[in-house]
Amino acid sequence: MKFFIGNWKMFGILSSKKIIEKINKFKTKDRSNNYKIIITPPYTLIESFAKKFKNSNVAIGAQNCFFKEKFSSNTGAISPFMIKKSGASYVIVGHSDNRAEGDNDEKLKLKLNFCLKLNLRVIFCIGENKKEKQKKITFKVLGKQLRNVLSKKFDPNKIIVAYEPVWSIGTGLVPKNKDLSKTINFIKSSLRKLYNYKCPPVLYGGSVDEKNINQLKNLKEIDGFLIGGASKSSKKFIDIIKNYYR
Ligand code: 13P
Repeated sequence: MKFFIGNWKMFGILSSKKIIEKINKFKTKDRSNNYKIIITPPYTLIESFAKKFKNSNVAIGAQNCFFKEKFSSNTGAISPFMIKKSGASYVIVGHSDNRAEGDNDEKLKLKLNFCLKLNLRVIFCIGENKKEKQKKITFKVLGKQLRNVLSKKFDPNKIIVAYEPVWSIGTGLVPKNKDLSKTINFIKSSLRKLYNYKCPPVLYGGSVDEKNINQLKNLKEIDGFLIGGASKSSKKFIDIIKNYYR
């Protein structure tokens, strides 16, 4: 099973549902391949999209959540409980945008804990920045990001890990297949150690588009893709899937 996840970031209004309608129509026709589509629109659209696409082939998720479970006096915050009640089934946790805004390991662990407790599936993002890549400490950084947040008591069946090198997000730069393969295998062996040989799916994210998917698809160890910019166009998103299986 492969995952194609569209992270819309700060994009989308009610009429953007057309994008998902087209993607859903495509997936409904394409029964030949085994993959799952998830779209994470902004918080403002989750409730209506979750309702609209309830029995469709597209699942709806949130891009983040606050690190408290239910209700609190934190202005502007949205809790895992509120996300669950709005009908989403997935939550992205640890995106580099949010790490840059102050999400540390301690907060991320709380977020994962509450999401999983509420039976929300978590897409946990990890990735090294440009400096760390240049210093060749990628594995050290990723190992720490995994160890410090993923607890043994979390259910690995409810977690998806997304490797998103910070230097590749929105830049058009993608790691070389040889390097990417090593990194994905490193992440998988770390997860197998943690979860007693069970391994959550490991995705790649960062400048994935309908062209470079033709190279990326050669790495069978990648369990899917977390797609930013290209997921704002139904055509590009569908072409990524078509080209993957071509
Ligand atoms: P881009 O595909 O725009 O590089 O974004 C990747 C990303 O951050 C997805 O979470």
